Amino acid sequence: METKIVIMEENKIDERSIEEAAKVIRDGGLVAFPTETVYGLGANALEEEAVKNIFKVKGRPQDNPLIIHVADYRIEEYVKDIPEVAQRVMTEFWPGPITLVLNKSDKVPDITSAGLDTIGVRMPSDKIARELIMKSGVPIAAPSANISGRPSPTEVGRCIEDLNGKIEYILGGKGSQVGLESTILDCTVDPPCVLRPGAVTLEMLRKIHSKIYIDPAVMEKPKDNLRPKAPGMKYRHYAPKAPLKIVRGDLKKTIAKINEMVQNYIDDGKTVGIMATNETKESYTNGIVLSLGSRKNLDNIAKNLFEVLRSFDDKGVDFILSEGFEELGIGIAIMNRLKKSAGFDILDV
Ligand code: TXA
Ligand code: MG
Repeated sequence: METKIVIMEENKIDERSIEEAAKVIRDGGLVAFPTETVYGLGANALEEEAVKNIFKVKGRPQDNPLIIHVADYRIEEYVKDIPEVAQRVMTEFWPGPITLVLNKSDKVPDITSAGLDTIGVRMPSDKIARELIMKSGVPIAAPSANISGRPSPTEVGRCIEDLNGKIEYILGGKGSQVGLESTILDCTVDPPCVLRPGAVTLEMLRKIHSKIYIDPAVMEKPKDNLRPKAPGMKYRHYAPKAPLKIVRGDLKKTIAKINEMVQNYIDDGKTVGIMATNETKESYTNGIVLSLGSRKNLDNIAKNLFEVLRSFDDKGVDFILSEGFEELGIGIAIMNRLKKSAGFDILDV
């Protein structure tokens, strides 16, 4: 299949292309598009055949539900009820990087929710995403626009890498500003529960409801008695091609340990990538060092994370070693993605 690719300059929306892409959605096709979190792979959420193709193209397990993207606060058609907390979260954070899990109405086909009675709903703030949804006139089901298991794309080039030739249309804009997928808040339980941490942090949500908590299973290695409630959080995910290990603890000790491990790998004839920060990057004597940004700006580290992981793929390193981050604010989301990328391989120093 020939994929039409249109990349828009910052602040220069090409209405005609968005209209064309919206028509693809209306006709049951697939469109990759930018959002402020990560790029999405969209289809008409109400059309079974279209949604089926998302799973096929991504190689996504059938039991992993999709989020529907809307451009209007009136979502009553798609959900059974909107609890008061959910309403307040919508008012406070939409459009933006948070998805609400609500009880699904019959209008949304089962394939979209992977057979669950609930559905994730999100209103993205990205201008191109909003225009695309409005012009389509339907809610857009969209997982991240990567082949299943790989780090989510935050640059259009990565969508092209994964999806060119497999879908009808790729809309490109500027890189995703948040860089990590949306926070998922399950509002069908009381108190609401965070199923996936993101840029709308626990601290921010607790201002709305002090008892909101994070599903304990998402920060730890999945065990039989501790299974994440979001089906997608149980898979190995966000993974670069090379095995990744997190070295965590006191920064000086971390640097020393990483330097020692790198030397051992190099002695074995292996190439190693190091995920460092601006504060530490000069301290590594060997290996391929990429900085995620300054430790003083965790938002920026979140934004760069997936792109740096993918850059190590490009460089074909045999192993990746990453520093850890404090699990506070958006640091919780960063560590959640890092741990999953590493398959929970963590060394505490
Ligand atoms: O930021 C985002 O949310 C991006 C952009 C494109 O909007 N989308 C995204 O979708 O990350 P995806 O499919 O890659 O991740 C959706 C996650 C999965 O872990 C899935 O299991 C979970 O949300 N999820 C979706 N619907 C759910 C539901 N009804 N109950 C529990 N978890 C749900
Ligand atoms: Mg994903």
